[in-house]
Amino acid sequence: MINHQPFFEHLKRTPLEKWLTHFQQVVNDDFEPERHGDFARWNEVLDKLPTLHDTRVNFDQSAVTANPADPLSEKSLAELKESLLGLHPWRKGPFSIGGVDIDTEWRSDWKWDRVLPHISPLKNRTVLDVGCGSGYHMWRMCAEDPAMVIGIDPSLLFMMQFYAIQHFVGQQSAYYLPIGIEAMPKNMRSFCTVFSMGVLYHRRSPMDHLIELRELLRPGGELVLETLVIDGGLGDTLVPSGRYARMGNVWFLPSPDTMMLWLEKCGFKNVRMVDCAPTALDEQRATEWMTFQSLGDFLDPDDVTKTIEGYPAPKRAVFVATAAR
Ligand SMILES: C[S@@+](CC[C@H](N)C(=O)[O-])C[C@H]1O[C@@H](n2cnc3c(N)ncnc32)[C@H](O)[C@@H]1O
Repeated sequence: MINHQPFFEHLKRTPLEKWLTHFQQVVNDDFEPERHGDFARWNEVLDKLPTLHDTRVNFDQSAVTANPADPLSEKSLAELKESLLGLHPWRKGPFSIGGVDIDTEWRSDWKWDRVLPHISPLKNRTVLDVGCGSGYHMWRMCAEDPAMVIGIDPSLLFMMQFYAIQHFVGQQSAYYLPIGIEAMPKNMRSFCTVFSMGVLYHRRSPMDHLIELRELLRPGGELVLETLVIDGGLGDTLVPSGRYARMGNVWFLPSPDTMMLWLEKCGFKNVRMVDCAPTALDEQRATEWMTFQSLGDFLDPDDVTKTIEGYPAPKRAVFVATAAR
């Protein structure tokens, strides 16, 4: 069911064709899914997904939706739910498939609502979503009629979730590559819009990440960057000594002014912060579709303005900037 051929075929009809061999190499030859012990089981889940008939698809509302013209029977509904639960944990969503509501850990639609009003229209644009997770935001981008959306993320489970959703919503113009940003061709300077949402604080070298993002953008292209920030002024940055909100791989949390300085220093113009808000407890929480611990368990039980380690609780900001010409 995992098939990159439609991506390669699409690429041949675009100016990105010159990187076809590179992409074939990284997603075919370098791809070793067997490295994950659950890969065979996930594949079986995908292979057994039912076909829904006369499906109506909607990318323009909170839940990415695919519904058949005739509602499923109770039995089919229960079977579909059980199949999709085989790809637990579902972190980014929500989705509604054939009447099964996938209530993911994150209300990723809230993030999209904070981002969309502030960005250049995606119509006819070639878009890259770095760290796309399950691909939820890629489907929401499809509602804006882009020329093509490429999502990259090294997580195999999230790729399987993308393909499960694609099975029901159809091919569209969204393509998922199971690679990290480091596997992208160098100096592409090709994308009209690049999203990096929820990735920067996981990078050991945030400046290098910003430069990589700039080099993926065509001159004048738009970066949409969402990341954790702290309150404070120019120069303030938190580097957690150990874990942050139980996450082990968190490196740099800048203040908004520091973040904007980093962007300018790395070759971006017209840098602005368009949104800044604490992460609400009902935006990230455990559900039937993600039964592990979640934000409520990562905050100080006596003071939810602090993480369990005593750092400021998660606050996220969205920045928009233009790659210098
Ligand atoms: C916090 S999630 C954000 C998901 C989504 N962008 C969102 O905003 O909801 C971070 C994602 O970055 C991915 N990631 C980690 N290392 C990466 C890398 N080197 N290149 C691209 N994505 C990466 C993770 O697998 C994860 O899905």
